Amino acid sequence: MLSVVVPLATAAAGLTYATAYEVRAFTLREVTVPVLPKGSAPLRVLHLSDTHMTPGQHKKQQWLRSLASLEPDLVINTGDNLAHLDAVPSVLAAYGDLLDLPGAFVFGSNDYFSPKLKNPARYLLPTTGASEKHLRRTKDLPFEELRAAFTQRGWTDLTNRHASLEVAGHRLSFVGVDDPHLGYDQLDDEPADTSADLAIGVAHAPYLRVLDRWNSLGYPLIMAGHTHGGQLCLPFFGALVTNCDLDRKRAKGLHTHQVVGHDPSWLHVSAGLGTSPFTPVRFACRPEATLLTLTEIDSPGSR
Ligand SMILES: [Fe+2]
Repeated sequence: MLSVVVPLATAAAGLTYATAYEVRAFTLREVTVPVLPKGSAPLRVLHLSDTHMTPGQHKKQQWLRSLASLEPDLVINTGDNLAHLDAVPSVLAAYGDLLDLPGAFVFGSNDYFSPKLKNPARYLLPTTGASEKHLRRTKDLPFEELRAAFTQRGWTDLTNRHASLEVAGHRLSFVGVDDPHLGYDQLDDEPADTSADLAIGVAHAPYLRVLDRWNSLGYPLIMAGHTHGGQLCLPFFGALVTNCDLDRKRAKGLHTHQVVGHDPSWLHVSAGLGTSPFTPVRFACRPEATLLTLTEIDSPGSR
């Protein structure tokens, strides 16, 4: 009898912890990325991703509002902001003063399509990032309203676009794609702007075709979200899946990506701030925002 009761009780306790506590245990993670030219002053970049906001998530909104006190130089938002048809005002109120800082964004599938109950087993299956099911659905979330609000406040839309920004005395060049998980990415062959202080690639989902392309085009830094860091992780093992073709060891955090014959790019994958409303659980993978301090190349970095 005990052989059944003990595992069941442990599983129930784990599920209670994951749904009642960890999914709302918002955490600021900090990393240092030695990627700027020699002699550059540091640049502080706040990476937000996968907020999956609903209007009633007051703790998340309050925590997000507090991030403005970090006074980052730049905000990068890698998408999946919405999880409700009426969430745009909550997202804008939560990002608050961050919207008045230099910023850039791309969208993810959860900016376009409202959440649906899915078979959890599908989450464990391999994915190529071109879901025809999504292509057949009508985009029902107010992503154009969100895009207009972000751009009116001054954030730069990187949806299948290049852009450049002057930030705290640094000239930054960007390339972005629409969500690779939906097959919306329109990758081009334009090499990274080597006259900029830094060229950054920004995508929602870190599919290998995107990372390979931007590494081979010379982008020293790539930023993405989507994986939720695995969302349900095992202690001492980590993520079980990444929900894309990235290996699970790079499901979150600072790593590198390198195609043979090219210098490595830094890759930062955010574990994100939220979950689908249908799977409000996180285990051994706290919801996060990340403050990246970019420093001069060859200085000590952190992972
Ligand atoms: Fe997400």
